[in-house]
Amino acid sequence: MSGNDAFISIQALSKHFGPVKAVDRIDMTIGGGEFFSLLGASGCGKTTLLRMLAGFETPTAGDIHIDGVSMDEVAPHHRPTNMVFQNYAIFPHLDVRKNIAYGLRVLRLGNAEVDRRVDEMLEVVKLPGFGERRSNELSGGQRQRVALARALIKRPKVLLLDEPLGALDKKLREEMQLELRALQQSLGITFIFVTHDQEEAMTLSDRIAVMADGKVLQTDTPEQLYEAPNSREVGAFIGTMNFLRGRIVALELDPETIVVEAGAAGTFRVAGTGRGRTVGDPVLVGIRPEKLSVSVTQPADGTNAIQGRFAAMSYLGDRSHYFVEVDGLDQRISVASQNDLQHLLAVGQLDFGAEIWLTWAPAGAVILAD
Ligand SMILES: Nc1ncnc2c1ncn2[C@@H]1O[C@H](COP(=O)(O)OP(=O)(O)OP(=O)(O)O)[C@@H](O)[C@H]1O
Ligand SMILES: [Mg+2]
Repeated sequence: MSGNDAFISIQALSKHFGPVKAVDRIDMTIGGGEFFSLLGASGCGKTTLLRMLAGFETPTAGDIHIDGVSMDEVAPHHRPTNMVFQNYAIFPHLDVRKNIAYGLRVLRLGNAEVDRRVDEMLEVVKLPGFGERRSNELSGGQRQRVALARALIKRPKVLLLDEPLGALDKKLREEMQLELRALQQSLGITFIFVTHDQEEAMTLSDRIAVMADGKVLQTDTPEQLYEAPNSREVGAFIGTMNFLRGRIVALELDPETIVVEAGAAGTFRVAGTGRGRTVGDPVLVGIRPEKLSVSVTQPADGTNAIQGRFAAMSYLGDRSHYFVEVDGLDQRISVASQNDLQHLLAVGQLDFGAEIWLTWAPAGAVILAD
């Protein structure tokens, strides 16, 4: 985070709709100039949180401060925020210039100033020369850029974006992601970006808040969320994760290691601190598919290994996913690997049902809160 670490400060914020706790006591701080994403399944409260920041929704309880000022009594059009809505909300009866200038009406600027600012915005969103076009003469991506320009022309300190790329096809969405990130960096303003697409959130964000049922499960950088999820829910929501349930049978020092006995999955070592843990504690262990290697010969004693049967494979060009059945586990173990030549030779010719071993390093697994 840069400069002002608590540019936006949200404290014990809730919004109830009758019995529904759409947002349930959320605490959050967002830095000035940060690209911050809210990620979570449909209905988890993302839009409601954004609408409270914009002032379109009154909190049931809690506080929002932006740049040190309480937003309690501040009307939406007096807040340093502006919002881009999910369904590129541009007016079909107005041309591009009038759509972009729309947000300036309340400022009562002179015509020359409005023209100058619209031209500037057309440059920013890379649509110079498009000013006289109507909405139906634009592509989806161009319409979305007009919506962005309209939100940015008032020079908000905070731009709130509610799934702004949701309606675009994959290729265009990826292009717009790069443009959005470049735009945010060149303007240096704070973006709060709502999405339910984890790859999109990972690509764009400095930090991500993973939400479920009106609550925040974990707020972290994309790397931390992937490598060190704090719970089963986050591990499963960000990418794919294999879960093994077990019990601590020993705690070792130097290097700090937790030895776990996991029934059908055997006994193995997980790198990590034993602080706050006791032999006998039940634990949930998470292992990412790409941390596992496939071996056709039995690994040396002392290596973390599970024996299983090669059950299915999907070939994805640059990589493959393998699924391995282990007696006594109710879920297949998912393995991902790059399709380098050696690997294809070793595994590509395996028959389904063949006995194999999966191995992994102690640092390749994490212990999760259940
Ligand atoms: N005006 C409203 N009246 C009653 N319930 C509402 C209202 N707005 C939202 N809700 C409920 O609050 C919860 C959170 O809704 P919200 O729109 O914030 O979810 P979301 O995370 O944005 O979902 P999506 O990804 O589908 O857009 C949902 O259960 C929703 O039905
Ligand atoms: Mg929503």
